[in-house]
Amino acid sequence: MTPDFGLTADGPGNDMLDAASREWLRQHLFNEVPVAISVISPDFRIVEGNRRFTEEYGEWKGRECYEVYKGRSERCKRCAAAETFADGKIRTREEEGTYRHGGKSHYLVQMLPIIQPDGKIPYVIEMSTDITQVKKLEHEKREAQRLAAVGETVAGIAHGIKNVLMGLEGGLYAVNTGIEQEDDDRIARGWMMVEENVTRISNFVMEFLDFARGREATVSMADPAKPVREVVELFVERAAQSGIYLDVHIKEGIASAPLDEEGIHTCLANLISNAIDACTFSERASDHVVSVSLREEDGVLIYEVMDDGQGMDYEVSKKVFSKFFSTKGSDHGTGLGLLTTKKIIHQHGGQISFTSEEGKGSTFTIELPRDDLPELEPDTEKKGDQTSSEPIV
Ligand SMILES: Nc1ncnc2c1ncn2[C@@H]1O[C@H](COP(=O)(O)OP(=O)(O)O)[C@@H](O)[C@H]1O
Ligand SMILES: [Mg+2]
Repeated sequence: MTPDFGLTADGPGNDMLDAASREWLRQHLFNEVPVAISVISPDFRIVEGNRRFTEEYGEWKGRECYEVYKGRSERCKRCAAAETFADGKIRTREEEGTYRHGGKSHYLVQMLPIIQPDGKIPYVIEMSTDITQVKKLEHEKREAQRLAAVGETVAGIAHGIKNVLMGLEGGLYAVNTGIEQEDDDRIARGWMMVEENVTRISNFVMEFLDFARGREATVSMADPAKPVREVVELFVERAAQSGIYLDVHIKEGIASAPLDEEGIHTCLANLISNAIDACTFSERASDHVVSVSLREEDGVLIYEVMDDGQGMDYEVSKKVFSKFFSTKGSDHGTGLGLLTTKKIIHQHGGQISFTSEEGKGSTFTIELPRDDLPELEPDTEKKGDQTSSEPIV
């Protein structure tokens, strides 16, 4: 039996197709296409199926579609056939299944209504195209890209560590020869190199960890000003050593908010350390100011880090959020700080943006609308942040 899909003798295309070809189409195409086709009646019985369908789903005559397709004894909760019977719309979706002989399969399923001239829909055609091979190729491609990214990361790590190791070796050499020669200055200089490089490697490892872990955000009711104060405390000394004044402006009375405190801390640390670098690399040697501020405007928490450092040209400004992009040379930069920052800010439902002028400085702005902040984890709700002057909302 071959269904008559309205391709009657006086149907469209009659002038172009001779009777024999039309008959061939009816007899063969329906059966030969590499797509499983079934025709479903309004009571969800399968009234016709092509060869591929029969091969894939077995005996179907007189059985319901949900039984044949899904092995169920009652109708599916969301029944695409029923929806297409109701509104006459074509539906496309992807589904997973299991081959009759085992193994996972993927299908692109389309529901097409047969619409009569009076608008009635006597049947719906379900066409399932096996896209398991396509899915497999997609998966293989993703896996290959992942491996390439892993390779790139490993190379980045190895390179970074190698540079620090060279610094450490230099420091140790200076200390050792200083001891041998009883030269205190030499020992002190060597020890300083060791210290610097230990700091460098710990920063480096932290940046990689922040980036690689994708940090599981731990959200709790927190004082938005707290990470600002903490990070400033952390950097004030380092800034001063480079002749940079670290200025802080925190608006009073900003209420607690559900934040991943550690995450915000990481973001501010990244922005401030970039700002300090930008001042250090600037042509003007001293009298730099890095200003960190927090305010709230119309329910949006705004963190800002402004510097009067080297700024960026157009080319650099296009790439700052790209993985491994750094203008600082591999012994200083990882090119992960801003990307990690962006990721954390997105986890908070916020945005990060910047303005920059070459030779003049840059301003990075984090905006966190309270309405889009993450949900509190149930057991952290009660804890709150006691340092806030506002009630916990
Ligand atoms: N405040 C800033 N001023 C000038 N350039 C900046 C600033 N912040 C970031 N950049 C540029 O963006 C690049 C990427 O920054 P980041 O992702 O933190 O990596 P890294 O600091 O390891 O280089 C930096 O190398 C620098 O070129
Ligand atoms: Mg950085």
